[in-house]
Amino acid sequence: MKLNWGMIGGGEGSQIGPAHRMGAQADGNFTLAAGALDADPDKGRVYAQRLGVAPDRAYGDWREMLEGERGRADRVDLVTVATPNATHFEITKAFLEAGFHVLCEKPMTMSVEEGEEIVRVAEAAGRICAVNYCYSAYPMVREMRAMVAAGQIGKVRLVVTNFSHGHHGDAGDADNPRVRWRYDPAMAGVSGQFADCGIHALHMAGFVAGDEVERVAADFASTIPSRVLEDDAMVNFRLQGGAVGRLWTSSVAIGRQHGFDLQVFGETGGLRWASEQPNQVYFTPVGGRTQIMEKGEAGLSDEAGRLSRVPIAHPEGFPLAVANIYVDLAATIRGEAHGTLPLAVDGLRSMAAVHACVASAKADGAWVDARPPMLR
Ligand SMILES: NC(=O)c1ccc[n+]([C@@H]2O[C@H](COP(=O)([O-])OP(=O)(O)OC[C@H]3O[C@@H](n4cnc5c(N)ncnc54)[C@H](O)[C@@H]3O)[C@@H](O)[C@H]2O)c1
Repeated sequence: MKLNWGMIGGGEGSQIGPAHRMGAQADGNFTLAAGALDADPDKGRVYAQRLGVAPDRAYGDWREMLEGERGRADRVDLVTVATPNATHFEITKAFLEAGFHVLCEKPMTMSVEEGEEIVRVAEAAGRICAVNYCYSAYPMVREMRAMVAAGQIGKVRLVVTNFSHGHHGDAGDADNPRVRWRYDPAMAGVSGQFADCGIHALHMAGFVAGDEVERVAADFASTIPSRVLEDDAMVNFRLQGGAVGRLWTSSVAIGRQHGFDLQVFGETGGLRWASEQPNQVYFTPVGGRTQIMEKGEAGLSDEAGRLSRVPIAHPEGFPLAVANIYVDLAATIRGEAHGTLPLAVDGLRSMAAVHACVASAKADGAWVDARPPMLR
């Protein structure tokens, strides 16, 4: 039977809303049954109904949705929170406490304390709180993780990752509402570009290496001077197992479209993946030739196979990576076997890394412990 799904944020014209709607509904697991989709209550109600939500479940805001859903026999099984960052904590906490499973957009919270609170609340409520680190669900990212875990590149020495684009590079775009909140501390938090994109790269580094970030040293810059928060950051980091990490993230790198890539270098080989060519992994064994591994070909890991839907050489795109998160959420909610889900604890680790990077950048790049106090 299909599960009922509700969405908060992700209204018409939003960046991430469509990927959630395609992702949640791609495999027939979820029906969009309720929503509070927009900061403007009327726009949200109208748009939800256009998407097929019944009028009495097309809510004007999330509090109305919480009250409306909590008493229903057919209440939503899962709520996705896809609003701007500053609202994530309050909404996620309220829905978890009311017994709903939640998929929260990144960054999960604004502070480390809030992140720890969400981990505690989810545990006490016995509910899933997943965080949408959707890039980790691309089939060939799972392939890299499986190869590292199987020792195919030996002990990891070095992880290098970039998530740099140029879509906020036009200073004249400063008043665009979709851009402005990302550099406003009241809406975005203590970090701009690093919390927006850099944390995807940092999460992926740990995910593929099978390790966690231990400490960071950061250089932040607001290259458009009117921005309070950084639009470019360079972060050095160390994983707990000792591997060296390098990360560059930028929103003013004009000409880079979706420049997210990851390279992992081990003692006996290296791996390379890029989000603009997500179907391929480049694998070079030490002393050997570079092989291009293709999604869908024989001999890949079970995870890469399980999370692929379209035939070899057909693009497996971003919404289907998001769909992979929903596949595992549906299985978890139903009590069935499922793969690795990015959870509140990952959201908490990211938040600790964000604050550690901010502290480091303020201290001229000093090394700062990036582990949340709860997990030290
Ligand atoms: N996982 C990813 O790859 C990814 C990609 C993009 C954005 N995001 C995250 O998703 C979130 C939203 O980003 P976006 O780029 O879609 O932003 P956006 O500005 O494009 O859209 C935000 C949407 O939320 C609505 N909204 C704002 N406040 C609301 C409220 N209180 N209640 C209901 N709706 C509200 C707006 O009306 C709009 O429809 C952010 O936290 C962002 O970091 C994640």
